[in-house]
Amino acid sequence: MCVLHIINEGRKVFGSGTNDMNEEEEDMPGWLKDAVFYEIYPQSFCDTNGDGIGDIEGIIEKLDYIKDLGCNALWINPCFDSPFKDAGYDVRDYKKIAPRYGTNDDAARLIRECHARGMHIFFDLVPGHTSEEHEWFRESSKAEKNEYSGRYIWTDMWLAGIPGHPYIGGEAERNGTYMLNFFKCQPALNYGFLHPTARWMDGIHSENALATRAALKDVMRFWLDMGLDGFRVDMANSLVKDDDEQKSGTQDVWRDVRKMLDEEYPDAAMVAEWGVPEEAIPGGFHMDFSLDWEGSGYKTLLRDYEKEDPDLSYFRKSAHDGAPGNRANIMRFLKGYMESLKAAKAAGGYISLITGNHDTPRIRRYMGEREVALAFAVIFTLPGVPFLYYGDEIGMKYAEGMATKEGGYTRTGTRTPMQWTSGKNFGFSTADAEKLYLPVGVGNDVSVEAEEGVEGSMLEITRSILSLRHSFEDLQADADLEIVYAEEEQSVFAYRRGNLLCAVNPSGTEQTVMTGTLSAAGGDPVFAIGSGSFKDSALTLAAQSFAVWKL
Ligand code: NOJ
Ligand code: CA
Repeated sequence: MCVLHIINEGRKVFGSGTNDMNEEEEDMPGWLKDAVFYEIYPQSFCDTNGDGIGDIEGIIEKLDYIKDLGCNALWINPCFDSPFKDAGYDVRDYKKIAPRYGTNDDAARLIRECHARGMHIFFDLVPGHTSEEHEWFRESSKAEKNEYSGRYIWTDMWLAGIPGHPYIGGEAERNGTYMLNFFKCQPALNYGFLHPTARWMDGIHSENALATRAALKDVMRFWLDMGLDGFRVDMANSLVKDDDEQKSGTQDVWRDVRKMLDEEYPDAAMVAEWGVPEEAIPGGFHMDFSLDWEGSGYKTLLRDYEKEDPDLSYFRKSAHDGAPGNRANIMRFLKGYMESLKAAKAAGGYISLITGNHDTPRIRRYMGEREVALAFAVIFTLPGVPFLYYGDEIGMKYAEGMATKEGGYTRTGTRTPMQWTSGKNFGFSTADAEKLYLPVGVGNDVSVEAEEGVEGSMLEITRSILSLRHSFEDLQADADLEIVYAEEEQSVFAYRRGNLLCAVNPSGTEQTVMTGTLSAAGGDPVFAIGSGSFKDSALTLAAQSFAVWKL
């Protein structure tokens, strides 16, 4: 079937804001423009001392690999001292590297080694809660008043509740209950309430809440002074309790933090786990993630299967076979994304699209390699600062049926060790198999070694897409995005970035669409997965193809 569609009649018009430089934009670190991040779950990346757990030395050893892949920045999941009941998101000491990963000196060396290669590095900042084993919490739990009594959110009676929030009693000598932020082991830090309604609630500018802010900034300065380039911020939208709909209380905290960065560390940046760029960016963040949360447009690209039946993930080939009204299309993504992009741009920040992360099922769970390659092509040619989750570049699969590890639950299948070679433990570690952090190679035998230099492998395709992005400024963070073709009932998505036209056809049949007044400088694409042609405004893409033309 060949679909011919004229776009200049009744076509939807999207804009992505203006090119005007505003005040915030001038404060943006320039290196973000061409940044592509690589997320590392340190437990599972590379073990160099044979204890079965990844370590900092292992990350250092693999920096050249990451750079060659085309990623020039890192986000390391929490690597601080922790009882690891939530994989390190339960921090016991913010200023100490977990001994199982190495020492603070190793961290300093990792930062230096990144910089020596022109790479940047973020750690994971967990501002909303600590481990119940953190010194601040131990002190805060004491009956006798001390410096930390107000660091967490305590009621003033042993049997009081906090409406809408989980709380714990019966664990401390203090006569009160305390609020949790996530798991039971993670008491919420006190940034105050937007509208305190009880004696025990602090306001957001109260002495206690400001002391928590100061402690947070102190932790950030500690690592920034070591040379760190910034942070991925965990549950960034959750700091102030009983916040309003726009999260203005929490935004107040981050604007304050951003002021510190702009004044003292202008090259540092923060990316939020917020998922609403129209709140996070005006709230002080440089970047905000598109996340797999319920109702998000991003979810419809890759992981529609989690809630929807049938699976209409845009990049899934079979999702384009259904009857009209029951077919995948890009509009479900674009409706929210274009609004968010406009808002992010107006506030001087970026959206970060991800291939996945340590909380999502891996993209290869239900998608074949070609489907994933097309998804990568689009994710890495849209505006903003993209993130690649370790192992996605070789097509690692979600490991089904894993027992939970360190609070991972269903996320555990996404956190298995990186597969480097076809040798023992896939080159992850020399330890005996039963000592490994998690089993390696469950349900898939892909590896870097097997794909290196092999034309058409996931690794080489990922590399070629990233290299394309780096070679055209128009494909990087800043260039405007203009939608050229996107329709409810159609498979093709075509978009313009500066002087380039990108188009994808994830369906199993050749498609032709008309691009109105646009035409290519020459007929041949400058980049293609599959094949496409573009002549006299008629754009044809073979089944499951992506291509880029110069205009
Ligand atoms: C979000 C993190 O990504 C997740 O892994 C963690 O369990 C929670 N926040 C709690 O910190
Ligand atoms: Ca180790």
